[in-house]
Amino acid sequence: MRRTSFATTRRLAATGIALLLLAAAGTAAPARAAEPGGPAPLGQVVPAPASVRPGGDPYEITARTAVRVPPGNPEAARIGGYLAGLLRPSTGYRLPVLPGGTDGPGIRLVLDEGEGGSGGEGYRLSVTSRSVTISAREGAGLFHGVQTLRQLLPARAGSTARQPGPWTVAGGVVTDAPRYGYRGAMLDVARHFFTVDQVKRYVDQLALYKYNALHLHLSDDQGWRIAVDAWPRLAAHGGSTQVGGGPGGFYSKDDYREIVRHAASRYVTVVPEIDMPGHTNAALASYARLNCDGVARPLYTGTEVGFSSLCVAKPDTYDFVEDVVGELAALTPGPYLHIGGDEAHSTGPADYAAFMDRVQPVVARHGKTVIGWHQLAGARPAPGALLQYWGYGGTGAAERDRVAAAARAGAGLILSPADRAYLDMKYTKDTPLGLSWAGLVEVRQSYDWDPGGYLAGVPAAAVAGVEAPLWTETISTSAQLEYMAFPRLAGIAELGWSPPATHDWAAYRVRLAAQGPRWDELGITYYRSPQVPWLVT
Ligand code: ACM
Repeated sequence: MRRTSFATTRRLAATGIALLLLAAAGTAAPARAAEPGGPAPLGQVVPAPASVRPGGDPYEITARTAVRVPPGNPEAARIGGYLAGLLRPSTGYRLPVLPGGTDGPGIRLVLDEGEGGSGGEGYRLSVTSRSVTISAREGAGLFHGVQTLRQLLPARAGSTARQPGPWTVAGGVVTDAPRYGYRGAMLDVARHFFTVDQVKRYVDQLALYKYNALHLHLSDDQGWRIAVDAWPRLAAHGGSTQVGGGPGGFYSKDDYREIVRHAASRYVTVVPEIDMPGHTNAALASYARLNCDGVARPLYTGTEVGFSSLCVAKPDTYDFVEDVVGELAALTPGPYLHIGGDEAHSTGPADYAAFMDRVQPVVARHGKTVIGWHQLAGARPAPGALLQYWGYGGTGAAERDRVAAAARAGAGLILSPADRAYLDMKYTKDTPLGLSWAGLVEVRQSYDWDPGGYLAGVPAAAVAGVEAPLWTETISTSAQLEYMAFPRLAGIAELGWSPPATHDWAAYRVRLAAQGPRWDELGITYYRSPQVPWLVT
């Protein structure tokens, strides 16, 4: 799937220069992203920063540039090392990471309590001819500032092969902080299994757009993907296949810890999901005693939903829940545990509510906050629970109202409307992958909505954030995953991060177009939507 050769890069630069000349001559050309060979305008970043003040001379990274970090701060030093590690291959420069001297020239990472106004994830990036300074109250803010800096460099800075300079960053000040505290992406590793390395690759892609949560859908009818010591057949048997009958797979506890560790290094929190009481065939196949009739179900490799249910009346069910939730909570440093709860069509409403009344306190006892799909609103959401709304145009008013009422009663909401945020929906009828039950979701459709006002009757403060789920019934490789995620992943990130005042499709599509060459450099496969003015075809 890779990519731009050196010669192509030069051609891109030449094309860009021609475009700039056209623009300079006052030709009424459509809005265009800046040419990929040169420095990006200061505001040409996705997600759009809260505030951009261009001005002053640019900064140029040269062979003499150092990355300066506060002394005695391993976290800042690690972020400095990460940035230098990203830029060394393409620039060919040494880019030493030096503790101290953060008032000296170079790229400076500064931890500053005074940046508290922008919160732990906010940052300020200021560029003069002498330095690029990223200041933040916490490491997360420094890290997000580094992502902004990456987008202000020429796209070829993302190359793993040495590229020609200059490495120029436009002058001025960006002041930035997220709109929402929860900005997630979900990966369904149950329908098709994805390896630790594939998940880590996706985490790195999420980090580009300042996502801070990776929701792993770890269990479903077709597969159980996490080792549970007390119930070993869940992974050994329940994880032994996938949609279409492939070999499946599962994460050992060390595998899962490695995903958590890598995600944390990118300021991404892992949110594990065990989907219950429906979507449980893999568990029901692994243990006969989880079934009401005591008979184990066969493994399932199809794509129907709604046929499985844990046995709500059986004590074994709650032994299972206790062990699974307990072990998963112990492995998970993040605050959330997702208990699914969607499409429990084989569980009666009273049983569903009774089940959730027993399961939610188990999650709390293990120190985690419940997230559930929005059907949890039909039971009694625990205090502090978050509901993940995945409705679409076809969702009835009664269901929407139930979710809004739960939000007014104190539940938080994560917005993942399927006809906007589902990355597995086809872009057009010709998209070779994906599904279309919620509609066709082109790039504009995915971007052009407001999480704050999306569901009528929901107080603005109830909205915790957004999430972009990627279900994998039709997806089994990283290239397929990326094709469905990009470009929509960037748009959902912007909805979660950027202030509503920046929301503007016409401006967004130009900033988005500038991401294309960056994805080319990173070897990311993406859908070249005709709605976006990509620079080259
Ligand atoms: C879902 O799409 N069933 C949450």
